[in-house]
Amino acid sequence: MSRVYNFSAGPAMMPEEVLKTCAEEMLDYHGSGQSVMEMSHRSKWFDEIINTAESDFRKLVGVPDNYKVLFLQGGAWTQFSAIPMNLMKNKVADYIITGQWAKKAWQEAKKYGNAKSIASSEDKTFSYIPDVSDLPIDEDADYVYICQNNTIYGTRYPELPNTKGKLLVSDVSSMFLSEPHDVSKYGIMYGGVQKNVGPAGMSIVVIREDLITDDVLEGTPTLLKYKTQADAGSLFNTPPCYTIYVCGLVFKWLLEQGGLEVMKKKNEDKAALLYNYLDQSSMFKGTVEKPYRSLMNVPFITGNDELDKKFIAETTEAGFVNIKGHRSVGGMRASIYNAMPREGVEKLVQFMEDFEKKNG
Ligand SMILES: Cc1ncc(COP(=O)(O)O)c(C=O)c1O
Repeated sequence: MSRVYNFSAGPAMMPEEVLKTCAEEMLDYHGSGQSVMEMSHRSKWFDEIINTAESDFRKLVGVPDNYKVLFLQGGAWTQFSAIPMNLMKNKVADYIITGQWAKKAWQEAKKYGNAKSIASSEDKTFSYIPDVSDLPIDEDADYVYICQNNTIYGTRYPELPNTKGKLLVSDVSSMFLSEPHDVSKYGIMYGGVQKNVGPAGMSIVVIREDLITDDVLEGTPTLLKYKTQADAGSLFNTPPCYTIYVCGLVFKWLLEQGGLEVMKKKNEDKAALLYNYLDQSSMFKGTVEKPYRSLMNVPFITGNDELDKKFIAETTEAGFVNIKGHRSVGGMRASIYNAMPREGVEKLVQFMEDFEKKNG
């Protein structure tokens, strides 16, 4: 068996220990005689799987008692619609545009009300986070929306915005569980799981209880109304059972690693390896202004398209896969989520040094 170092932005690497547990439990989960894939979502085994997943997630993140944790079908994009449908009581919302995902969420919200862009970093290809300390927040805004880690551009908010008392809604898809989250700062914190948490197909929505009501926009589909799934413990209809099971194994793995403070240190250390190299290289260059650099997604370029192509081809050949930048920006991007071992980043940096010597 030979496994590659997968630098994909998502779906992404999973902890090997988790994959091994999945393999061991594939045919017979805990003496049930069934795979989790085959199991009724109303069975006692699955009941335990989902309850344990939720309680481990709560422990890991330190979710306050007045927040619900929902395991919902669909990727983060589904939430781009669910959020305005559930929260836009005044039909006003303020969006901070720091990349394609924030922009897409904003465009979706415009279908439901007056969604405004109150700050943007598009003027410099989203290579920084705008000053968010004193924004023109609308008095009637139902919420302020951010994408806290911008997967495509490799930026991350150094500080949360001053929302002037309005609810903060944050997409944390590409930084989920990579560092501690202070849930009490958000009305909703949510993310698709396929980057840092588990297999694709699900979002985890952490939502303050008082925001879960029947007062949603007219026409909101039953399944997009948070109250539907909150009342049913995320079991209103058939949930993504296998994904919930694997996410639960990842929560246990993260607890065993020492929790989110420890993960943050590990992630800072891995990211520093790569950024320090980029900062002194005369061939490769990071594309993000230093204070806004993501710990998870590291975009870089050589400034020469042909050389970028050669580098991408040679890395792939050497077992460092999916290092090509997003199709909308080009260049390279190394996504180094929780499950990427330090050794993977060390070897990539070594490879880059050798490439620079040979081609410089
Ligand atoms: C930050 C962020 N938000 C939203 C999305 C969209 O997620 P999905 O494909 O799960 O709908 C992505 C996908 O890569 C993302 O990186």
